[in-house]
Amino acid sequence: MSKKILILQGPNLNKIIDYDRGIYGKESAESINSQIQHYAKNLGFETEIFQSNCEGRLIDKLHSLSGEVSGAIINAGALSHYSYALRDAIACAKYPCIEVHMSNVFSREEFRSKSVIACACMGYISGFGKLSYMLALNALKEWL
Ligand code: DQA
Repeated sequence: MSKKILILQGPNLNKIIDYDRGIYGKESAESINSQIQHYAKNLGFETEIFQSNCEGRLIDKLHSLSGEVSGAIINAGALSHYSYALRDAIACAKYPCIEVHMSNVFSREEFRSKSVIACACMGYISGFGKLSYMLALNALKEWL
């Protein structure tokens, strides 16, 4: 049976096509998500992609999948920079989590260069557009 990976997408990532195109490109969330799923399948992973604009729903999802997923790739959007609640939920997860960002958060506004969730994650990838997710999938492939 193939291992299942949770792809957790935080606030506004459903609207990525309306973000700054110079930073995020011009693909829709649906297109990026289907490419992630396709890539994961080729690596032998099953995926569940969950997006929410609500912090609590993201936390509930992390809790509810304990025992069901082998790993998670988390783009928490702006919550990454200040959500201690999300950080604690990641710390409770019984599976490894990787924090990803499509943009290079260190080359942008100063508030984006801080992550409060990174310390609860196994690793951190930022700046490679949709490839950030693919790189994280490769890391999980090696790790799991
Ligand atoms: C982002 C970076 C965050 O700072 C921002 O709030 C986002 C997207 C990224 O993928 O580059 O929502 O997580």
